[in-house]
Amino acid sequence: MSFCNYKEEIVDNNNDNICDIALYKHLGHGLPVVTSLSDLIRELRLIFESDTVNIELVHYVMRSYKSNPIDWKKYAKFDRYRYTRNLIDSGNGKYNLMALCWGEGHGSAIHDHANSHCFMKMLQGSLQEIRFAWPEVEGEELKEIGRKQLRLNDVCYINGKNVHL
Ligand SMILES: [Fe+2]
Repeated sequence: MSFCNYKEEIVDNNNDNICDIALYKHLGHGLPVVTSLSDLIRELRLIFESDTVNIELVHYVMRSYKSNPIDWKKYAKFDRYRYTRNLIDSGNGKYNLMALCWGEGHGSAIHDHANSHCFMKMLQGSLQEIRFAWPEVEGEELKEIGRKQLRLNDVCYINGKNVHL
């Protein structure tokens, strides 16, 4: 499977209107309609049927879904000591859709996403993501390159080129 990334900067500037118009022109037909978690699962499965996945389209459908706790509360399992990862859909073996549940003050270790692509959508609350440049020399201290406060319904994307927590 490969990912088609026809305008990566459009994802990064987080300007929904520009992205939607550009994506609409790119696709040449109507964009998917996502009004529920089951719609999101259906659209993601359709997108991932192809061997070439359009990252902007994945980003679009993730953004289109507006969080509704009725949809996802059965997957929301919290642990008082650490964040949890709860599988929602295994995406025909091509991806995993998971509900990650973070308690107050919980954090991840600094990590990368190797050869995978990761989209994260806020379903409730807020989360701070901190990004680091990939170290150029072994043992070099990681350099922070940005931090972002994710709020309800925001979507962020990271792939193997970055390190974050
Ligand atoms: Fe991550």
